[in-house]
Amino acid sequence: MVVWSPLRFNSGREIANRFVIAPLTTDSSHDDGTATDNELEFVRRRAANGFGATISSAAYVEQDGRSWQGIGAAHDGHLSSLRRLAEVMHAAGGLAILQIYDGGRIAKPELIGERSLRAPSAVASLRPGAKTPRAMTSDEVRGLIENFREAASLARKAGFDGVEIHGANHYAVHQFFSPRANHRDDHWGGTLSKRMNFPLAVAQAVRDALGPKLIAGFRVTPFEAEADGYTLEDAKQLCHELAKLDLDYISVSLDDYRKSRPTGETRVYNGPVEKTYTPAESPITEFARVIAGRSAVMASGGIKTCTDAEGAMKLGADLVAVGRAVVVDPEWLSKVRSKSEASILAGLPKDEREIAEGLSIPPRMVDYLLSRPGWIPRL
Ligand SMILES: Cc1cc2nc3c(=O)[nH]c(=O)nc-3n(C[C@H](O)[C@H](O)[C@H](O)COP(=O)(O)O)c2cc1C
Repeated sequence: MVVWSPLRFNSGREIANRFVIAPLTTDSSHDDGTATDNELEFVRRRAANGFGATISSAAYVEQDGRSWQGIGAAHDGHLSSLRRLAEVMHAAGGLAILQIYDGGRIAKPELIGERSLRAPSAVASLRPGAKTPRAMTSDEVRGLIENFREAASLARKAGFDGVEIHGANHYAVHQFFSPRANHRDDHWGGTLSKRMNFPLAVAQAVRDALGPKLIAGFRVTPFEAEADGYTLEDAKQLCHELAKLDLDYISVSLDDYRKSRPTGETRVYNGPVEKTYTPAESPITEFARVIAGRSAVMASGGIKTCTDAEGAMKLGADLVAVGRAVVVDPEWLSKVRSKSEASILAGLPKDEREIAEGLSIPPRMVDYLLSRPGWIPRL
């Protein structure tokens, strides 16, 4: 079956099978952005099941863009923590990929100070309680691109096989691409082509820092569900340009790969459905067509069984990233491989201590998971 077959990336690195652990924030790092033992254990236990690759939780590239209590890749002080993380991911033989991000307007004021909140434009996010950021100066925009470059070079020094740019889910790279969040009229905003400048500059900087032999990936939200957001056609154009930069993969971020549903900016999971648009064809298929083999395509969202993984691949994906299923059941992939899917845990246990201890989920992550009703299934 294709899902168990290897794939060679443009960079020459080989992934042993098509299953990847999706980036999963634990919200459990030390205040200084170094990884805690319990978040390393969260990763170790899941990676031990033979995933082709593990993608890290998103690491901030600049303190002022920090959206939660996660790991950093912002300066040399983070290097030894990043080394430990890469070692844990490599322990079972899979590839180790560091995801890097900046929060922009959805950085967390409690972590960075309200006055530090900066974004492409002074427009507040739709998240409940969001504060209005200030617009970044051109120097700050260039500085942020340099920090993405620096983060990629830290990843290289730390022994990762590659880096994924978090260009999805309403964080800063996404914000620069969004006409809702980006009202600039300089080099970084205005037309579609100018809104692409920031994501492309970050991708180029990361590729340069990694060199040609490490994996460079980019995660994208395929369209914005909100009114006046960017369209699937806009995102296809971006993917076309990204593929010219010799990226190894483009990852399509969906809540549910079958329903072509991206994450809404409000993240109110049990509220009214705000999505109004369903493309005629799956965004996975649309992206695969426009990328045309120049980069691999990764799909994610609601993959819970081997049949789901094969379904996403039939739509055009080369790789699948699995998130909530491996949060809930750390041994998920072993059960899929041994065809014991009936024994896969379908939800988090009722008892919170059992969640933390039985499933090796750091206590702060347990709180984070339970803070959004409807996000993660409960038994
Ligand atoms: C606890 C948790 C943390 C997440 N953290 C990240 C993250 O750091 N970066 C990211 O790109 N996506 C993140 N996501 C989104 C997942 O990678 C994935 O795209 C999403 O959960 C949908 O896939 P799934 O249905 O397999 O969970 C997170 C999801 C969860 C549940």
